[in-house]
Amino acid sequence: MQIAVFSAKPYDQTFLLRAAADELEFQCLELALNPATAVLAQGAEVVSAFVNDDLGRETLTMLAEGGTRLIALRCAGFNQVDLQAAKDLAIRIVNVPAYSPYAVAEHTIALMLALSRKLPRAYNRVRDGNFSLDGLLGFDFYGKTLGVIGGGKIGMLVAERMQAFGCRILIYDPFNEEKCRQQGYETAALDSLFASSDIITLHCPLNEHTRYLINRDNVARMKQGVMLINTSRGALMDTQSVLEGLKAHHIAYLGLDVYEQEGSLFFEDHSLDIIQDDVIQRLITLPNVIVTGHQAYFTKEALQHIAETTVSSILQYLHDKPLTYQVGG
Ligand code: NAI
Repeated sequence: MQIAVFSAKPYDQTFLLRAAADELEFQCLELALNPATAVLAQGAEVVSAFVNDDLGRETLTMLAEGGTRLIALRCAGFNQVDLQAAKDLAIRIVNVPAYSPYAVAEHTIALMLALSRKLPRAYNRVRDGNFSLDGLLGFDFYGKTLGVIGGGKIGMLVAERMQAFGCRILIYDPFNEEKCRQQGYETAALDSLFASSDIITLHCPLNEHTRYLINRDNVARMKQGVMLINTSRGALMDTQSVLEGLKAHHIAYLGLDVYEQEGSLFFEDHSLDIIQDDVIQRLITLPNVIVTGHQAYFTKEALQHIAETTVSSILQYLHDKPLTYQVGG
């Protein structure tokens, strides 16, 4: 059976082919899945999609008409899927709930350290034969307060690792408070986390309650000089308000691995283009901002786990077994 794999980069193909071990046949397409490209999956009972593919009702309807019955997401988040539409069209959705929380936690901390010690600037300076330290003054994480929003798999790993740096940890997670406390962490209401944290890092899912969790009002509640990190989902932040906070020197450091409008930019080479998105262009010119292009998950271990879980879900479907990682109804 043919399986149409969208947003498939060469590295995805390598890991998928290795995991499938000749049991499955993939039609790998580098194109993103959306209403314009869904036709390419005509006749594919199984489709695999990634984080920025458009799985709204229009795309799903076209896939259903073409015979698709299973969509295997190669990511954890499924905010890009219209689950109600999938249910209405009898398309089942599976995801990869945890491929390497370590990868994302480690990248989060890499952003924190690179920002505080101004590593991109230091690296470029030394390559230019400039060994001056002016402008490179950093700060110790020891003794600082880290606010973690979302105490799930990734948030807890970040908390654990930053505790080892000597940070006081505050966690806000309305659905996981008890577990956070049992693990010895201090939990806090959102307002008090904003008011007390020197560093704030986001690890909650994107949904109707968390969209624009970081907005103008909440930026104003944060400490002057705060460091803000988002490796979860771009729309957790109103990026315009965050930019204003940076311009007003209220936010002193920003580390992003995700961006609200990343769909049209990330995972592609735009180095010769005139990028039309003025917000991201402005952000990446600021000396106290580091943006990476949704690479927090991108380790060998994570790609291997994504490929193995995707293949095993597809095999469960083909052999009529219960789907371990089905999401939605
Ligand atoms: P998880 O499901 O283990 O943890 C999420 C936590 O957020 C849960 O404990 C949940 O109770 C909490 N939560 C839900 N609503 C909340 C709210 N309104 N306020 C505060 N907390 C809330 O998920 P995991 O694996 O830790 O992933 C976190 C996020 O990281 C994912 O949702 C995904 O968007 C992002 N991610 C980013 C990647 C990257 O490459 N940049 C890769 C993988 C995940």
